[in-house]
Amino acid sequence: MSHNLLKGKRGIIFGALNDMSIAWKVAERAVEEGATITLSNTPVAVRMGETNELGKKLNAEILPADATNVEDLEMVFVKSMEILGGKIDFVLHSIGMSPNVRKKRTYDDLDYDMLTKTLDVSAISFHKMMQVARKLDAIETGGSLLALTYVAAQRVFYGYNDMADAKALLESITRSFGYIYGRDKGVRVNTISQSPTMTTAGSGVKGMTDLLDFSEQMAPLGNANADDAADYCIVMFSDLTRKITMQNLYNDGGFSSMGMSLSAMQQYTGRGKDRDETGNAIKE
Ligand SMILES: NC(=O)c1ccc[n+]([C@@H]2O[C@H](COP(=O)([O-])OP(=O)(O)OC[C@H]3O[C@@H](n4cnc5c(N)ncnc54)[C@H](O)[C@@H]3O)[C@@H](O)[C@H]2O)c1
Repeated sequence: MSHNLLKGKRGIIFGALNDMSIAWKVAERAVEEGATITLSNTPVAVRMGETNELGKKLNAEILPADATNVEDLEMVFVKSMEILGGKIDFVLHSIGMSPNVRKKRTYDDLDYDMLTKTLDVSAISFHKMMQVARKLDAIETGGSLLALTYVAAQRVFYGYNDMADAKALLESITRSFGYIYGRDKGVRVNTISQSPTMTTAGSGVKGMTDLLDFSEQMAPLGNANADDAADYCIVMFSDLTRKITMQNLYNDGGFSSMGMSLSAMQQYTGRGKDRDETGNAIKE
């Protein structure tokens, strides 16, 4: 259902690969809410993935770009302003990739060239986007920029590997640039920390199925899926969140505030099935 929350707004969405991608759902919701958008992904992803299909469906132009390449990013912002007819109101950075994870290098045996690539693709690319956009004066006053992150930036999650370091850097860049962009342009910069979600990038995480199940059992509201992430992004792009910036915002059903839940405890011990969440005996 549309509330016209983004009526008349112009946006750029990076990272829609296929219909499981979080960026794909955000793009669909943004257009539904009245925005006009451009889509960007790597030339390979555009060739191999389904981004073109989404472009046709949403009447959105595709601008192939490697988000680690500054010239590519300049092209995306300049062309997006031309195509959409003005400055950009919102940007989604939905990009992540670790060659170490792909090559199954463990955290105590990282390849450092690969680590540099992980950080560049998954975190520094957000800095590059903002630096390029600010130099081009491409973002409308009060605009909203978002990147997607994961709670492994704060706590250790088995198997998340060097992506944890990339997410910590991404969140730090968000604060540092948020300060500069807020002061001179009123531009908001935030990260949304999303539940584990079954996407192409997500399925690369070691033990993803078990992680999904564990966080489902821990989170009082259950895991947030890609549609939930899209809804949250729309609110953050809208004028309803004008004073929220430099934040890491959890969209995780409460997972990040939990220590232990009854159902996780029951799973672990096999006991306690006769108790409810408060510890009282369940009456037959
Ligand atoms: N899926 C999860 O469990 C989960 C949880 C929390 C956060 N996130 C984050 O959400 C974001 C989106 O991931 P997703 O789960 O939708 O998976 P996805 O695989 O659909 O999206 C990742 C995207 O990054 C793009 N990409 C990779 N290298 C790039 C580059 N050099 N330049 C431009 N684009 C590049 C890919 O082509 C792809 O479209 C990522 O930042 C991811 O870390 C995902």
